Amino acid sequence: MRRLAAGPDTAVDTIGRCGIATKILRRTAAGPAVSGVAFDAATPWCPMPTIEYLVNAPLTPAAFVDILERSTLGERRPIDDAAAIEAMLAHADLTVTAWDGDRLVGVARTLTDFAFVGYLSELAVDVAYQRLGIGRALVERTRAAMGPRSKLVLLAAPAAEAYYPRIGFRPRSSAWILERRDPLR
Ligand SMILES: CC(C)(COP(=O)(O)OP(=O)(O)OC[C@H]1O[C@@H](n2cnc3c(N)ncnc32)[C@H](O)[C@@H]1OP(=O)(O)O)[C@@H](O)C(=O)NCCC(=O)NCCS
Repeated sequence: MRRLAAGPDTAVDTIGRCGIATKILRRTAAGPAVSGVAFDAATPWCPMPTIEYLVNAPLTPAAFVDILERSTLGERRPIDDAAAIEAMLAHADLTVTAWDGDRLVGVARTLTDFAFVGYLSELAVDVAYQRLGIGRALVERTRAAMGPRSKLVLLAAPAAEAYYPRIGFRPRSSAWILERRDPLR
């Protein structure tokens, strides 16, 4: 690994994994992107975490709520409704999780028939691990598990509206929702 110094063209993201002030150096003025090399004042060479992805591994309601909270998505999910959280896990068709050792750092929960379509209901990455490619990898593995003929549909949270086009999703103005309180006319 090369030692890198932050320069005018160097984008630096804090992730806080190796202790305070952990930084990932993404680009240098001199050369190509170097995401994958981390530097932190306390741990001079803190390697990128090796993330393991599991398909339909057991996930407890407490762990699910915890990762929703650590990603900030908990604000938009019924995390105080234990029955709803249990049902969300019990009736999911496909849950892909990302792990740094025994720490759950990301989740993608999808309802799908594995043949035609899947609804990606939650995509959530621990804030300390965001922008490391984990969200994209969760979508990639979700897609692979659904099979080559399935398309993936989702509703973006406001904070992620710019994210989905960034990784290849196309907007569809023809999407419609009947919210819980909307009367069927
Ligand atoms: C949205 C979220 C899932 C993205 O996961 P992530 O692991 O941080 O994203 P990735 O590392 O896969 O990002 C891939 C690319 O998208 C970019 N990106 C990441 N988050 C972005 C955002 N919110 N807006 C625009 N671009 C974003 C990254 O910089 C990266 O670009 P690069 O390839 O040039 O480096 C994650 O930030 C998250 O959990 N957010 C909070 C919960 C949430 O809103 N979830 C979505 C619910 S619909």
